[in-house]
Amino acid sequence: MIVHIPGILDGPELRYFREQLAQAPWIDGRETAGHQSSRVKRNQQLREASPLALDLGDRIVRGLERSPLFISAVLPQRVFPPLFNRYGVGMGFGLHVDNAIRELPGRAERIRTDVSATLFLSDPEEYVGGELIIEDLYGAHSVKLPAGDMVVYPASSLHRVTPIERGVRLASFFWIQSMIRDADKRRLLLELDLAMQQVARSGRDHPGLGSVRAQPCAQIALEASSEAETPEGAQRVSAASLRLTNCYHNLLRMFSEV
Ligand code: NI
Repeated sequence: MIVHIPGILDGPELRYFREQLAQAPWIDGRETAGHQSSRVKRNQQLREASPLALDLGDRIVRGLERSPLFISAVLPQRVFPPLFNRYGVGMGFGLHVDNAIRELPGRAERIRTDVSATLFLSDPEEYVGGELIIEDLYGAHSVKLPAGDMVVYPASSLHRVTPIERGVRLASFFWIQSMIRDADKRRLLLELDLAMQQVARSGRDHPGLGSVRAQPCAQIALEASSEAETPEGAQRVSAASLRLTNCYHNLLRMFSEV
């Protein structure tokens, strides 16, 4: 499932990123590529774990934490520190697959890459080419988003970046280990969560149903502070919403690895 997550970075943050990246020391992206992908990779990257990459990466992670859709769609367990790349004219990245397991820089720990993320830092009008093409069983999907927006997709997908014909494409890319390893189960939980938010919104529109919240269930689960778990809160949540919430939590309990 390919999900567009808008607004991870806002205007002032984007300006800060662009200023910093304009003076950044870029290195050949092949330095960090595996044997197979280095043959098709032609781009530049910030050195992993450099002070600038760490600073910008932290800002992205804070943006992820503020995004209910990111939490619902990915159900993150661990986020790999974001990396940064730059594609100038003639650069691109041929069809490849991302490594299943990655070592966390500077630590003797590894994460399983369940979800791949690309956060666009250049606007689509700034460059020609540079589409992210993601292949799945339904075919090839072309993604090119406004600066500050992000796409997440199963890390099991083959993908590529088409060659740049004009301009420069800046992006951040990283991986997430999800509490839910299986992409179909993640999709089911997202669909259920979105449906519950719709039910909650219609509850608000119909005063008879009371003050049902439209907060994503995934966020409530992660914060472990479900309103429905307190007697006063339970009274405020409609019976249907409560049962759906219960199903959501029970599926999460059944599927998750934490
Ligand atoms: Ni890749």
